[in-house]
Amino acid sequence: MNAPFNPRGAGLRDPFSAFVCDDATAEMLRPVAIELGWAPEKIQRGGLRTAVQTLAVSASPQILFVDLSESGDPLNDINALAEVCEPGTVVVASGQVNDVRLYRDLVASGIQDYLLKPFSPDQAREAFAHAQLALSGPKVAEAQADRPHCMSAVIGVRGGVGATTIATSIAWLLGENAKRSTALLDLDVHFGTGALNLDLEPGRGLTDAIENPSRIDGLFIERAMVKANEKLAVLSAEAPIHQPLISDGTAFYQLQEEMRAAFECTVVDLPRTMLVQHPHLLHDCNSTVLVTEFTLAAARDAIRILSWLKANAPQSKVLVVANKVVAGTAEVSRKDFETSIERKIDLLIPIDHKLAAQAAKLGKPLAEAGKSAKVGQALADLARQVIRVSDPDADDAPRSKGEQKAKAGSLLDKFGDLKGLIPSKAKKD
Ligand SMILES: Nc1ncnc2c1ncn2[C@@H]1O[C@H](COP(=O)(O)OP(=O)(O)OP(=O)(O)O)[C@@H](O)[C@H]1O
Ligand SMILES: [Mg+2]
Repeated sequence: MNAPFNPRGAGLRDPFSAFVCDDATAEMLRPVAIELGWAPEKIQRGGLRTAVQTLAVSASPQILFVDLSESGDPLNDINALAEVCEPGTVVVASGQVNDVRLYRDLVASGIQDYLLKPFSPDQAREAFAHAQLALSGPKVAEAQADRPHCMSAVIGVRGGVGATTIATSIAWLLGENAKRSTALLDLDVHFGTGALNLDLEPGRGLTDAIENPSRIDGLFIERAMVKANEKLAVLSAEAPIHQPLISDGTAFYQLQEEMRAAFECTVVDLPRTMLVQHPHLLHDCNSTVLVTEFTLAAARDAIRILSWLKANAPQSKVLVVANKVVAGTAEVSRKDFETSIERKIDLLIPIDHKLAAQAAKLGKPLAEAGKSAKVGQALADLARQVIRVSDPDADDAPRSKGEQKAKAGSLLDKFGDLKGLIPSKAKKD
């Protein structure tokens, strides 16, 4: 089934086989298979039933095409296929039922794609190209046991400060720069933009996990996560807003557990409300990135959340990041902000509207869109600091203390003249 992270025994497997219900589909698939270097004789007549019978007694291919046209209950039959199909197989299905609910249910049960019949060779090519991409997604097996897992929660002290932008960027950088397989868990279940920032459809994985926590296991993670690239996979949702979130938090905790086993790094986009409801979500986080702005309201809530973290997650190293920093004008100056929260800001990220707009248009994380810009460099620094918390000996560790200071100094020079004052009411709870 659609378990691209861990093609166990992939070496012994055929790259492709297809079970189709009619000659026309077989004829159409043949040249496409040949183009892709697959043996055309692997296209067999018989549909889903034959697929189940065959795979019950033989190794599953890497990519499986299965025709559901003769199936009376495709969803049920797909589950029968799941029983006999080894993890790691990417399944592309086709059929005559044009029903978006069926499509969604099939995708939720692990199908990579569903092609409505009749489909064109181009549609088949595209579906197989996606299947190949899924196969080359992050591989659990690659996780290196000798490196401690790096789990970081990103929390915005107020709405809209840029927590998701930063979470997505850190996750992307951990994959891209640090070359570590990374999971991004977006726990803003109704309004999350983690997937959107990466130009991905969130899928139903997270919603399913919340509805059925007992289903969460390694295989579920492999199937439900949406791959952004070779190193990064995302679990997020756009849950219907007429449905309240009903969860005692077990699902989230289990997801964290499974992600820790399956990936080298996990970045959790953690809305403040979730923190209040499910404090245990921070237990396994080595670091917490607290994102703030230089405003009065942000100062008040930074104080409160820092105090909460001290009491509830003392093991998690806090990195305070000021985002959208504007030189010269701010409601509260950096100095006063730091005095107020009784600690230093670890990192400043300047505001860059142009880059943010470009990233949104390209569907890329801010860190990728602005690699060489100041914003991109600051985000890369942050990602290195996040890794360093869990793995001080990482090759991709951040600059030395002195270099960091020099760097912070130069940013401070630029932003140090922020004007503003925190009135006395923004004092600690
Ligand atoms: N450094 C920056 N410069 C310019 N724009 C930024 C910067 N960081 C984030 N933004 C923009 O700010 C907006 C809000 O960002 P984001 O969604 O990440 O915030 P959030 O804290 O996750 O919000 P929410 O509370 O809704 O979850 C986005 O449009 C994003 O592009
Ligand atoms: Mg957000």
